[in-house]
This record gives sequence, C-alpha cells and structure tokens, in this order.
Amino acid sequence: MRVVLFLLPLFLFADAKFDRGEKLYFGKSCLSCHGVSGKGLSGYPSLAGQSRWDLDRKLKNFRAGKKQTHKSSLMIPFAKNLTNREIRDLAYFLEKIDEVEKDVEYYYTDDGNWGDGGS
Ligand code: HEC
Repeated sequence: MRVVLFLLPLFLFADAKFDRGEKLYFGKSCLSCHGVSGKGLSGYPSLAGQSRWDLDRKLKNFRAGKKQTHKSSLMIPFAKNLTNREIRDLAYFLEKIDEVEKDVEYYYTDDGNWGDGGS
C-alpha cells in the first residue's frame, strides 16, 4: 500500500530531473536503507525534504570517504561511484519527494479516495 501511495503521483509529476533522481534512488538500492519514501528506516536517516544543497554536500563528502558518524562506513560504498550529475539528480529528487508526499496526503484525505489526477 505504501508503495502505491508513493508511486502513483510520480506518474503525474513530469519533471525530468526528478525522474532521473527517482530512477537512481531505486536503481542504486538507496531505498533499502532509506526507505521507499526516503523517510529512513530504523537506524537509517530520513532524507526526504532536506535541502538539495545539504544532500549534495553530504553525498560528496561520503564519496570522498569522509565520515559523518561511526555509521558512515555503511553509506560510503553507495556514494563512491556516483557522478556529480547523479548526486545532483538524487538531491533534487529527495528534496522534492516530501512535497509530493504532502500533496498526496492532502489529496487522499480531502477526497477520501483516489481520483484521476484532476482531469
Ligand atoms: C546499506 C545502507 C545504505 C544504503 C544502501 C544507502 N545509505 Fe545513505 N546512509 C546510510 C547510513 C547508515 C547513513 C548515516 C551515515 C552517518 O550519519 O554517518 C546514511 C546517510 C545518508 C545521507 C546523509 C543523511 C544525513 O542527513 O546525514 C544521504 C544524503 C544518503 N545517505 C543518501 C543515500 C543515497 C542517495 C543512497 C543511494 C545511492 C544511499 N544513501 C544508500 C546507509 C545507507
């Protein structure tokens, strides 16, 4: 159910950078630790809604092998092979993911039902 809540609005959301970031997020296994909606899983930080500049900086630090906490060694291998552009797209996606989710929740509770995207 969670997956449906998250994926449905993305089809309505035409934004190439966002789409590229989304593909990377799922394709590079980020979701296995940070969750399908980027809100983190137990022990793994939430990324959703952080500013893209912060996310960009943190990812570049991990890529360079810099530790943030003792848990960073789990994260560093996943940042190692990212290009600058991939980092930018991921950061853009993660900053926006929260807005998309908020819209969904609003839409869902307001209508009490899934519509067809307003058309
Ligand atoms: C094996 C689990 C795992 C995977 C997979 C993973 N991460 Fe992480 N990530 C972590 C952990 C643990 C931390 C916390 C590290 C720390 O604070 O020292 C973290 C931290 C982060 C942070 C910094 C968050 C903050 O606010 O400090 C970002 C950004 C991030 N990950 C992005 C990603 C992206 C993008 C991917 C996919 C390319 C990814 N992670 C894949 C475990 C993972």
